[in-house]
Amino acid sequence: MKTRITELFGIEHPVIQGGMHYVGFAEMAAAVSNAGGLGIITGLTQGSAEKLAREIARCREMTDKPFGVNLTFLPSVTPPDYPGLIKAIIEGGVKVVETAGNNPAKYLPALKEHGIKVIHKCTSVRHSLKAEAIGCDAVSVDGFECGGHPGEDDVGNWVLLPRAAEELKIPFVASGGVANGKQLAAALCMGADGVNMGTRFIATVEAPVHENVKQAIVAATELDTRLIMRPLRNTERVLNNAAVERLLEKERTKGKDLKFEDIIEEVAGVYPKIMKDGDMDAGGWSCGQVVGLIHDIPTCKELIEGMVREAEDIIRGRLQRLVA
Ligand SMILES: Cc1cc2nc3c(=O)[nH]c(=O)nc-3n(C[C@H](O)[C@H](O)[C@H](O)COP(=O)(O)O)c2cc1C
Repeated sequence: MKTRITELFGIEHPVIQGGMHYVGFAEMAAAVSNAGGLGIITGLTQGSAEKLAREIARCREMTDKPFGVNLTFLPSVTPPDYPGLIKAIIEGGVKVVETAGNNPAKYLPALKEHGIKVIHKCTSVRHSLKAEAIGCDAVSVDGFECGGHPGEDDVGNWVLLPRAAEELKIPFVASGGVANGKQLAAALCMGADGVNMGTRFIATVEAPVHENVKQAIVAATELDTRLIMRPLRNTERVLNNAAVERLLEKERTKGKDLKFEDIIEEVAGVYPKIMKDGDMDAGGWSCGQVVGLIHDIPTCKELIEGMVREAEDIIRGRLQRLVA
């Protein structure tokens, strides 16, 4: 399958693995890239520019295919060393950066100067147009069903993707809710040039997370995610668990007076406890409604090749027959 996204990133299949805190290590990114997709290392998980440089080098030892690095820009009291992280990306010879969160305009010139392609993750058409205007090469359009931060507009991909197609000139991928080849074909029908997946890639053989996380994903249904931090306008879609129930109860009782400090126990420092230790009630962790479509733990190669095959069969078979 050749699309503007496979051409832009020099990859075989139009399938991207989005940055994921405490999941996007070198093992994850290399497995996806070796399978012909675009694997992405999560920059902030590394904690420092030196560690990111080492992780990039480790990934390069595991694959000779293109891979990317995610840079998430969030408001923070002590901001991460973004210039240092960008230096590590440039010096590490990485050719793709996935940005997310705040406007990445400030960092684009340094990336562009070194021929790095930038795909910005957006949850709305207006943010996608802004990304196009500031010079991003592509966008990842994240619908309301996505795992992680869906924004505050609550528009699902069934409307968001065709709306993006109406307005955008740069290529975009469908992100949020994707797990199979039917959806890859549908995304292409709606104007996308590929897909980006988070949750689906956690339940793979190579994902460097505790087995409990993979089993929790396989066991969950599409009814098992919750939206937390809505009152703080920092909405996150997470898998429900005891800590999330506790957090939501605090949101109900505190109402408009809720402060971040009230829920810090349920959200701060949670990822290593979940992803490394497999303590599934440690707190809220990002997970999409797509868990309802995940029933197995394939290798990344089986997953990506299976999706592409399924999409091609639908396009050549069922869709062709409908118009023949
Ligand atoms: C566990 C987890 C952690 C994530 N961490 C990040 C992150 O640090 N930065 C980011 O830009 N997106 C993050 N995401 C969002 C994904 O990159 C992707 O956009 C999203 O998962 C797509 O929705 P899906 O899960 O329905 O496939 C995370 C998602 C998950 C499931």
